[in-house]
Amino acid sequence: MKTRITELLGIKYPIIQSAMGWIADPGLVSAVCNAGAMGFLATGGLTPEEVRQQIRQIRSVTGNKLFGINIIPYRPGFMHHIDAILKERVLVWSSGLRDPFAMVNITKPENVIYIPTVGSVNQAVKMEKTGADAVIVQGLEGGGHASRIASTVLIPEVVKAVDIPVIAAGGFCDGKGLAAALALGADGIAMGTRFAVTQESPLPQQLKLEYLKANDVDAVLSTVWDGLPMRVIRGEKMKRYRGWWTRFWQILPSLLTVKKIYKASWSDMITTADIVRQMHASLPQFLTGMEMYRRAFLTGDIKRAYSPAGQVVGRIEDIPTCREVIHRTAIEAEEIISNLHKKCLS
Ligand SMILES: Cc1cc2nc3c(=O)[nH]c(=O)nc-3n(C[C@H](O)[C@H](O)[C@H](O)COP(=O)(O)O)c2cc1C
Repeated sequence: MKTRITELLGIKYPIIQSAMGWIADPGLVSAVCNAGAMGFLATGGLTPEEVRQQIRQIRSVTGNKLFGINIIPYRPGFMHHIDAILKERVLVWSSGLRDPFAMVNITKPENVIYIPTVGSVNQAVKMEKTGADAVIVQGLEGGGHASRIASTVLIPEVVKAVDIPVIAAGGFCDGKGLAAALALGADGIAMGTRFAVTQESPLPQQLKLEYLKANDVDAVLSTVWDGLPMRVIRGEKMKRYRGWWTRFWQILPSLLTVKKIYKASWSDMITTADIVRQMHASLPQFLTGMEMYRRAFLTGDIKRAYSPAGQVVGRIEDIPTCREVIHRTAIEAEEIISNLHKKCLS
């Protein structure tokens, strides 16, 4: 199945594994890349040295295959990640919300393929102008920090507005989704939640079972979690935590833990505070929210926390290998495309 995305990235299928903090690790990324698609390593929970180690780990398993690195350009200490990735000469980058190259005062290096995630037509046009080679367009169905616009509306509008390839994200888990995305004008799909529930995903088994149990209304979009619009499965005891970020005795441990884990300086923390303030969120809420997600992930217990997931979680019913997900998605899409004319009654 050839599209502009398979050509750009030299992959067999127009399928991307989205970046997911603490989940898109070297094991998941390598499994995806070795099965003919491309994965993004998430750097959200890593120190710069860990980023470098994990890049080398992926290379040792995938050889020359392309893989991507995702930057969260507002997490404390993200500038050091950019340095680490430039030093490791990673060829494919993604990011959310801001241009990571501008953040280190350089223009995008020529040999780097840059595929930012966008949530509106304006952002897509802006990213094309700054040199993006493709865009991941995430609709409101998506897991994690999501857009406010549905994929069915957003994707065709972005396709109309830009010349670069478009990867549809948010709500995709199978061949029906891939065929629909191509019909909307996209050149491929990116899947997060689907790859989080696979054999190779490091998501704790307990959480994988929560995701299997979840139905179509269980992944809710709100700014309550970390101050930015984020879609998550919330724990049943989450409600009484509304407003938790205003209590200093709960903020302080999170603030110190986040600072320590990321080896961030106070100046890094101030930079993050400034960026999240520009996005109408507060540093205490943002850091406490991040820390809650990390704790849910480490313990596998979301009762008092939350775990990011897309609405598509309601359609996920098994825990296959990455290879199975990729192959059956491609085969199903090809079958749908070749039989579509039978849907039309003459
Ligand atoms: C558990 C989880 C963690 C995520 N973490 C990140 C992240 O670290 N960086 C990022 O750019 N996007 C992150 N996202 C968003 C995904 O990259 C992707 O855009 C989204 O999952 C696509 O929607 P889907 O879940 O419906 O497939 C995350 C999503 C999930 C479900």
